[in-house]
Amino acid sequence: MERMRRLRVSPAMRSLVRENHLRADELIYPIFVMEGQNLCSPVESMPGICQYSIDRLPEELDRVVEGGILSVLLFGIPAHKDEVGSGAYDDQGIVQRAIRFIKSQERYRHLIVIADVCLCEYTSHGHCGLVKDGVILNDETLPLLARTAVSYAGAGADMVAPSDMMDGRVRAIREALDEHGFVQIPIMAYSAKFASGFYGPFRDAAHSAPGFGDRKTYQMDPANGREALREVEEDLREGADLIIAKPAMAYMDIIRNITETFHVPVAAYNVSGEYAMVKAAAANGWIDEKKIVMEILVGLKRAGAKMIITYHALDAAKWIREGE
Ligand code: PBG
Repeated sequence: MERMRRLRVSPAMRSLVRENHLRADELIYPIFVMEGQNLCSPVESMPGICQYSIDRLPEELDRVVEGGILSVLLFGIPAHKDEVGSGAYDDQGIVQRAIRFIKSQERYRHLIVIADVCLCEYTSHGHCGLVKDGVILNDETLPLLARTAVSYAGAGADMVAPSDMMDGRVRAIREALDEHGFVQIPIMAYSAKFASGFYGPFRDAAHSAPGFGDRKTYQMDPANGREALREVEEDLREGADLIIAKPAMAYMDIIRNITETFHVPVAAYNVSGEYAMVKAAAANGWIDEKKIVMEILVGLKRAGAKMIITYHALDAAKWIREGE
């Protein structure tokens, strides 16, 4: 008889043969920054998550630093939206000012500040690109995304992460960054981004739900796996340095396929709806939150993710320190 239980006999033995580990420095924590003052405005569908005004950011950033997390992903909620999403590429925009603030503070300067590049939080219609007669315009959107990325880099962002899913955006952004002297700024591309119901709570938090229709003409069909590889292949050809697969839990095969096919670091985005489900069940006492979160996160690593973008990052960092 094979005695598999020999290697499960004690915590030390289990630790010795453990194949995957969670590390705080591989977690990326998303933060919502909002116009206004003295705001830590809770997101109802994401318990524990707030929209912060810049003056209140330090309390959150202190928790990031204390947790040993090294990367944050910024999303902006502007005061005004318009048809062309000008808040995204305004050098005085909310994300640009948040980046400058973080980089001006000695105790946060070491953080890797990643800026999400998209128009949906900044457009009055809530779509990720320009709209004309109800149609999302691809090529006309590219210069605006490129301008946004350059503006973030100029403010001091360490990395840009285009999440819009327009064709050709990685090349447009790479060329613009290079032209402006930002040859060293990496692009983390949301390549395998699916048209998912799991983004619901995020759209509450970022006020970015599309005003009409849906995102199915630019985000991927959840039924397609092979197409995700084509998206990744194209983004790498255009100059992506890192790849995001999103959402995470219902798409673990995608993460696995990408990591087996391409030699590039892959981030799994454990999105807002995944977070909300765990929080809701935990609040009801139906699951053990710590166990479930750690199981989900290590599962994503087992699937092949190098990094995990997750709203659980602060808790997870604490639980990693506490151990089994
Ligand atoms: C912006 C963007 C979205 C998310 C990240 N960037 C929303 C969307 O595409 O509708 C979702 C993140 C989450 O649900 O946590 N395009």
